[in-house]
Amino acid sequence: MRIAALLFPAVFILASLTTVAQTQAAAQTPQAPSQTAAQTPPMGWNSWNYFAEKVDDKGVRDAADQLVASGMKDAGYVYVNIDDTWEGQRDASGVLHTNAKFPDMKALADYVHSKGLKLGIYSSPGSKTCAGYEGSLGHEAQDAQLYAGWGIDYLKYDLCSFTPDVMEKQAPTDKAAQMRLMEAAYAKMDKALKATGRPIVYSLCQYGWDAVWGWAPSVGGNLWRTTGDITPEWDRIYTIVSQQAGLGSYARPGHWNDPDMLEVGNGKLTLAENRAHFSLWAMLAAPLLAGNDLPNMKPEIKAILTNRDVIAIDQDSLGQQGTRAYSEGEVDVWTRQLAGGALAIAVVNAGDTRYSTHPFFLSLKKLGLHGPQAGKDLWTGNSITLRDGQGFELGGHDVLLVRIDAPK
Ligand code: GLA
Repeated sequence: MRIAALLFPAVFILASLTTVAQTQAAAQTPQAPSQTAAQTPPMGWNSWNYFAEKVDDKGVRDAADQLVASGMKDAGYVYVNIDDTWEGQRDASGVLHTNAKFPDMKALADYVHSKGLKLGIYSSPGSKTCAGYEGSLGHEAQDAQLYAGWGIDYLKYDLCSFTPDVMEKQAPTDKAAQMRLMEAAYAKMDKALKATGRPIVYSLCQYGWDAVWGWAPSVGGNLWRTTGDITPEWDRIYTIVSQQAGLGSYARPGHWNDPDMLEVGNGKLTLAENRAHFSLWAMLAAPLLAGNDLPNMKPEIKAILTNRDVIAIDQDSLGQQGTRAYSEGEVDVWTRQLAGGALAIAVVNAGDTRYSTHPFFLSLKKLGLHGPQAGKDLWTGNSITLRDGQGFELGGHDVLLVRIDAPK
């Protein structure tokens, strides 16, 4: 279900209002738990991309079990995030209850915690979530307390019906005022979360409107979606990647651009596409939230998701997001500066076949490198020496990902 896109076509109009709200950035709030969280991009699993509204208590327990059994937990995946459709009704005191799919959220949190994992949840600043379930409008403090009481460690807060409920109602013709209302709604939940005293990672989901990367940290955002929804299709993944160019300077420890959750292992993505998708998310210092069916994960998908060398690029302590260094024909070359002076290079063939790039001659000069560069090919695990002008044959939608520890 991609309801946000259907319900809110105004995204395109709003997206053009880029700067107004940046000037509204709230004064720095005091250091609080969620501001020291997410020192590296959050890693874990989220229910939406594969299960959508079918998620239930058992599916979440299974996912937690599989994170441990598959070795993903050891590789760094710790958040088990329940997306939309867990919500039931509010009682007479306004307290939100779960629906029948989640009989006891506290027990579920205890179970997830007993595995050494953390539990995430989802809501909306509007009256309804994107899938039409109960949102937090008017109950922000109450909901934050509820989450903290359950032992929730992560909140994804998805704009959705806040647009018609509040923005369009209160400021029908004033887009700048609408943006201010939106920011205030995110700040309100941030305050409510901090008031609980529990460290809760705060994930903003408003599809990249109003240049969210400029103001999300000032409303406590540890990460913020930069685009509309991902789908398990190369074209969509590549479009999202192309929209990340220029956002690198906004990412830093505690605050990350979020090009959406992973589709690795979903749909009909080829192995090359899965590799390229995962490599690019690592280059982008993106949150690594797997979105696949963990109990039925194929070994080759597990191998991609648990590639420690690629994860190390994503989780690099410098926290500097990669940039697209240059493009030639259908090939993009991305670089990412890493701690200790190391460098990651990703060469991506966005063309459909290997002949679209046949062969591709890598320019080290364009990357500011001089002479042969000794490194490691992170997908074969082999040593590799890159030379200026060297030709590469890359399959369609495939990637060459190299780490150079001492670039010259
Ligand atoms: C929006 C979000 C998705 C997902 C759904 C749930 O579309 O962008 O990531 O959370 O809502 O309804």
